[in-house]
Amino acid sequence: MKLHILLFVLLGCFFSASNVSAQPDGQELFETMNCFKCHDSEYNKLGPPLKIIARAYEKNEKLLSYFNGEMDPIVKPEMAKIMAGEVTKINKLNDQEKASLANFIMKYK
Ligand code: HEC
Repeated sequence: MKLHILLFVLLGCFFSASNVSAQPDGQELFETMNCFKCHDSEYNKLGPPLKIIARAYEKNEKLLSYFNGEMDPIVKPEMAKIMAGEVTKINKLNDQEKASLANFIMKYK
């Protein structure tokens, strides 16, 4: 009986640990980082819609360059100051999280 409980606990640890290493969810990141506050999928808010961003970037790699600060903004550079603080936050994400965020946005192409 006790062994069963122990096995159960061990299995529980195994599954919760494997969840942590799973690919981060881009949509979830977009939500928790409050990106939706300024970006809608289709309509203009303070920031341009994801559809427009995805079409302007064309490729995930290009959007990643922007996230990594290796490329200047191309959609609305004249409003880049409003987005600058967000880019700093995105920069602090790990590579997998950045990739998931880019994948999520590029789905709107
Ligand atoms: C306070 C409002 C605001 C928030 C919050 C915000 N953005 Fe933006 N975003 C903007 C504005 C304004 C622009 C247009 C300026 C520009 O294009 O550089 C923009 C532009 C962008 C662009 C296009 C950059 C380009 O090439 O011109 C991307 C990609 C982007 N945002 C992603 C995000 C992501 C991801 C988040 C969440 C981490 C986020 N934004 C949160 C306001 C915001």
